[in-house]
Amino acid sequence: MKRDSTLHRIGYAERLCHWMMVACFFLVALSGLSWLFPSLSWLNAVLGTPQLARILHPFLGVVVFLALMFLFLRLVKYNLPEREDRIWFANVKDVVRGAHDKPLRIGKYNAGQKVLFWSIMVLITALLVSGVIIWRPWFAHYFPIPVIRLSLIAHSLAGIGLMLLIIGHIYLAFWVKGSIRGMITGRVTRAWARAHHDRWHEQMLAKEATQAAAAKEPRA
Ligand code: HEM
Repeated sequence: MKRDSTLHRIGYAERLCHWMMVACFFLVALSGLSWLFPSLSWLNAVLGTPQLARILHPFLGVVVFLALMFLFLRLVKYNLPEREDRIWFANVKDVVRGAHDKPLRIGKYNAGQKVLFWSIMVLITALLVSGVIIWRPWFAHYFPIPVIRLSLIAHSLAGIGLMLLIIGHIYLAFWVKGSIRGMITGRVTRAWARAHHDRWHEQMLAKEATQAAAAKEPRA
């Protein structure tokens, strides 16, 4: 991919963090499912043995939480609600049809991605809090039995909720061709940016023009 025909979208640290987190997330999710549904008990082999799965699941869960907090700090500024998000919501049918003729004034992330971002952050926080309460042998003994029971239910529901969201996230990442390449190489084509994130594309062009003008200015 020629550098001239692409735009920088995602930094190296964010990409490394995202893919490392994806690996941990799958291990945590599959081991969690193995305890939730008896028919899936064979899945606890993903972490070696059932005993190892029992020990490693919470630690890997904390790694996923910390990785998501890092992404939160780096990306929250692009995921704040904006007036233009209303245009995306009003035209969501066109977005689903893949029609790109209307300018939807989409910034670095669209309104749907922002909803997903905040939902992921809320659910991972719920998973961490409920997970600590039910974490034997370290913390569970500090809490009364009814609190542990409620936390077990909350942990299971939040886990299933997050897995369903992530299935949607993966589907959309494959559906919008060029996005995964962006998360791997850090760069997206200009055509991709224009089609899916028109306002961000304009902002990047304006930034390039400013940089080019600054480079041309004679040095004092
Ligand atoms: C095979 C699995 C996955 C794939 C292919 C994938 C793909 C992607 C892609 C392509 C982007 C960038 C979207 C863009 O540039 O517009 C992205 C962003 C992101 N992904 Fe994933 N992802 C996967 C799994 C996960 C998991 C498991 C999580 C969290 C538990 C996650 C959390 C995020 C977050 C927080 C962002 C930033 C979105 C934003 O700032 O709005 N991803 N992912």
